[in-house]
Amino acid sequence: MSVILGIESSCDETAAALVTSDRKILAHKLAGQETVHAPFGGVVPEIAARAHAEIITPLIEAALEEANLRLDQVDAIAATAGPGLIGGVMVGLVTGKALAMAADKPLIAVNHLEGHALSPRLANPDLGFPYLLLLASGGHCQILRVDGVGQYRRLATTIDDAAGEAFDKTAKILGLGYPGGPKVEALAKTGKAAAVPLPRPLKGSKEPHFSFAGLKSAVVRAHESGEYKSEDIAASFQLAVVDCLKDRLEKAIRDHGTVPHLVVAGGVAANGPIRAMLEQLASDYDMQFTAPPLWLCTDNAAMIAWAGAERFAAGLTDTLDFAARPRWPLDPGAEKARGAGVKA
Ligand code: KG4
Ligand code: ZN
Repeated sequence: MSVILGIESSCDETAAALVTSDRKILAHKLAGQETVHAPFGGVVPEIAARAHAEIITPLIEAALEEANLRLDQVDAIAATAGPGLIGGVMVGLVTGKALAMAADKPLIAVNHLEGHALSPRLANPDLGFPYLLLLASGGHCQILRVDGVGQYRRLATTIDDAAGEAFDKTAKILGLGYPGGPKVEALAKTGKAAAVPLPRPLKGSKEPHFSFAGLKSAVVRAHESGEYKSEDIAASFQLAVVDCLKDRLEKAIRDHGTVPHLVVAGGVAANGPIRAMLEQLASDYDMQFTAPPLWLCTDNAAMIAWAGAERFAAGLTDTLDFAARPRWPLDPGAEKARGAGVKA
């Protein structure tokens, strides 16, 4: 049994966690930055990096204290090394390197997306490889086939905005504030999903990818027309996202075949109607459905510690000169999706 310290700082959550190779979460600490970014309606990279730097060391100390462990009792230190906002990533990675050097422990440089991709295995010991993964967060929207630790095949990605980004932009348009996902979901509960005609970009398309930019523009037009209530726009928008995700997942299943498990990860997996659709889809295709608990879906350090534990068990450690990577695709061999400004 090994104990891994995980550190996460790639966006607007600073987090530290201690997780064992047999799936015990000994501690997990998280400090959000919502109040510092809220006035700007989105994450400001420089402010984020400074906020990470201020809190990361006390947060790691608090996690060790909660787990009742000293640093020298930890087997390895896993830190997010990308992709993400480079200033924040550097804060966490440099902290991880310093601790690894001080305690003479191995460093594991974790891809944040791998943290999300493997997190369902922390929650569900019965989830074996391979599985089909919908990874939907603020920065990414991908369908991946996960064949093993470090073995990811990207079947689809977004050609413009990520699903979470679409939720955040819709929230901003409707004046709901940041972060948008939970606010849009809450408002949608009181609205009518059939009230506003909104497009389903790329639905039925022969290419496998996602697109959400056109949906966002339609939300802007619906809002500016003054014809619709905000709650109806929120509900109609959410249903459009559900429909797009379902259509693209069905295409992936049709094109690549079923595997025993359908899995969702990333912050958007916290969305109730999206989870309900996925559960139904899995049952339609005789697949098991696995979703991590809500706190493990959004950014956290337990998923980084767990990805670290999986890599450590596979003998995958990194040297202290590992550089932070603002972009770091999980499947470097994936074909480029069309369009400018395409997310990896
Ligand atoms: O994985 P995550 O915490 O951070 C990234 O790596 O991006 O995902 C954050 C994203 C945000 O865009 C947020 O609006 C979205 O996940 N999100 C949601 C919900 N909760 C968070 N989207 C829809 N419904 C939610 N309940
Ligand atoms: Zn994330």
